[in-house]
Parts: sequence; structure tokens; C-alpha cells
Amino acid sequence: MSSSKTLGFGIIGCGVIADFHAQAIANLTGARLVGVADQIEAAVTRLATKHKVGFATTNVAELLARPDIDIVCVTTPSGAHLEPALAAVKAGKHVVVEKPIEITVERVDELLKAADAANVKIAAIFQSRFGNGARTVKAALDAGRFGKLVLCSAYVKWHRAADYYRGWKGTLKLDGGGAVMNQGVHAVDLLQWFAGMPEEVFAWKTRRVHTGIEAEDTAAATLRFASGALGSIEATTAAYPGFNKRIEITGSTGSCILEDDRILAWEFREARPEDAAIKAAGQTVDMGSGATDPTAINFYGHQLQLQDLVDAVRENRRPAVEGREARNAVALIRAIYASADQGKPVKIA
Ligand SMILES: NC(=O)c1ccc[n+]([C@@H]2O[C@H](COP(=O)([O-])OP(=O)(O)OC[C@H]3O[C@@H](n4cnc5c(N)ncnc54)[C@H](O)[C@@H]3O)[C@@H](O)[C@H]2O)c1
Repeated sequence: MSSSKTLGFGIIGCGVIADFHAQAIANLTGARLVGVADQIEAAVTRLATKHKVGFATTNVAELLARPDIDIVCVTTPSGAHLEPALAAVKAGKHVVVEKPIEITVERVDELLKAADAANVKIAAIFQSRFGNGARTVKAALDAGRFGKLVLCSAYVKWHRAADYYRGWKGTLKLDGGGAVMNQGVHAVDLLQWFAGMPEEVFAWKTRRVHTGIEAEDTAAATLRFASGALGSIEATTAAYPGFNKRIEITGSTGSCILEDDRILAWEFREARPEDAAIKAAGQTVDMGSGATDPTAINFYGHQLQLQDLVDAVRENRRPAVEGREARNAVALIRAIYASADQGKPVKIA
């Protein structure tokens, strides 16, 4: 049954992306931002002041004790998602976790298990899935328009300046990896959403430019999908000037190229009436691009995704990107790292 109650949001982790969450929440229907928390007082004060949030604390438990908070956004560093997300779930809150949902499959599973036990919804941010271009590609795949899938690949050739790698960025403990886990994860998720999960990968990783970081700044992987199709994932933060992320789906009866949310190529053996409009549409949902600057995205993708979660809570249905689906990108990326470390193909469990 749907409810008309205004849902209260809380945010844990008041850094760069939390600001996008706050802007997105301000533009939602049926929800409002109630409180924010961060372990650093200056960070929580900055966000609360900017968005005129009534409740700000350095004590996460205090935020979670509020009965007027229904949904919690976890926007801490990637390898520090689990602890606040677990606390939120155990407090009976629905939770939305930034990408990647966590940095190891074991930590993702611990969270999913706790959410099931608490009977709360758990969603993960993958705003790229909400673009019209991405949805058009997904619908065509579901309708079988590509025929037998042949090669399904993702390319993330981005640029990050040297000073980007400060604090937790590029560390194994809190970023969990580099160009693939942090920047490439959006494209990895889209690729597996479109083409299904690969069964096996063979990968290499290296540091081409950002030689001082623990994680890779460049990686390349070859994929074998369950369908028999092959593909590749290339990801870097070392390229100049940096290009928009690109997904290429080629099949026996059709092929497409998606660059950010713009459909660059759309060709099918059997044309359909809607194809002309799809080819003419260009970038219909502008979410910005993180290709050269991580803050050059805008909050619109987050707004679409958080609205979906609010509606899912009110209608008691599943959110569009559930935590268990976001697990796939983490499992695939960990297999890429394992293959690169071991120098041999790795099967994905
Ligand atoms: N969807 C996207 O396009 C996108 C873009 C950028 C970042 N992100 C993701 O958002 C997350 C945060 O990234 P960011 O760039 O905002 O990081 P950030 O370093 O700017 O902010 C993180 C904040 O979390 C706080 N924090 C850390 N541990 C905490 C804890 N246990 N309790 C409370 N607060 C804690 C830190 O003090 C800091 O203020 C990462 O997972 C990142 O991958 C997603």
C-alpha cells in the first residue's frame, strides 16, 4: 500500500558527494533532508550550513536514533561504507550506499545479510543507469534486438591530476583499488547490466603516471560472458585529456555505442520506427561527466535515483538498483584484480 508521509533523509559522510545528495534530496517529491553526520566537525558544519539542515552531529548513533529519519545515504569513503551502513540497517533505516557499495565481496555480503535480517531496503548509487540512453540500450537488449551478443566492452579513459590522489583516494584499504574500482565502476556496472555477468576474466593492471599510489591507475581486462560473448574493460586515470566513458555492444543483428548517456551509434539489421528518434536524440539526460574532473557531474542522476528509492519505500517495492545487483560490479572488479595479481584467468564465483 502506498503512503503519503514525507520521508526523512539522513546523510553519513559530509564530503564531496554528500553535497550532491543534499542537492538531489532538496529536489525530491515526498522527502526532505533531516540530519547529517560526519566524524569531522568542520565537514558536518559546512554541509549543514550550506543546505540549512536542522540537525548536525559528529555522532552517527545520534543521527540514527532519530525516528524522523527513514532513509540514510552512506557517503563515506568506499572501504568505510560497511560500518555506518550496518549501523543504519540495524537501526531499521532504509539505506542507499554510494558506489562501489563496498570494496570486497565479503563486506558487501555482510551488509546484504544484515539488511535482509532487518527487512529494510538497500540500494546502491549507479546514477548512469537512469539516463535515457542507458535505458534505451537496456530495453533493446532485453528485446533481443542485438541477436547473439559478440563483443561487449567498456572503456573509461579518464584524467585525474596528481593532486587528486590525496587522503583515501588510491589506497587499497579505503578506495579498494584505483581506476577500475573507483572511476571504472559505473561502466563496469552498466556493462554487466547490459550484457550479463562475465564468467571469466584475464587482466593486467599497472601504474603509468600516478606511480605513488598503492592501487592501479590503468588496467585492461578480457572478458568471457556466460552467453559465450567476449569483451574487454579498459580503465585509466592517467590519460590526457580524458574522454567520456564508452560502452560498445556488438551483436549478430545490431550494434550500438553509448558515450556517457549519448547514443553515438545505433544500427540494427531490422530497423524499427523509433530508431530515427533514438539516433537524433543525443544526450537527453545531462548528468555531466567525471572524465576530467570528479566534481563536473551534476546532481540530476542522483535525484532520479533517490526519487526511485523514495517511491520504492512508499510503494513497498524494490528499488531500481538493489544492493545485491551492485554486488556484481564488486565481484567482477575483484576478479579483475585477482587475475592481474595471479597472472592467470579467474572465474567469477
Ligand atoms: N556516484 C558518483 O558519481 C560518485 C562521485 C564521487 C564519489 N562517489 C563515492 O562517494 C563516496 C565518498 O566520496 P567523496 O569523494 O565524497 O569522499 P570525501 O573524502 O570527500 O568525503 C567522505 C567524508 O566521509 C567522512 N567519514 C569517513 N568515515 C566516516 C565515518 N565512519 N563516519 C562518518 N563520517 C565519515 C569523512 O570525514 C569525509 O568528510 C565514495 O564511496 C566515492 O566512491 C561517488
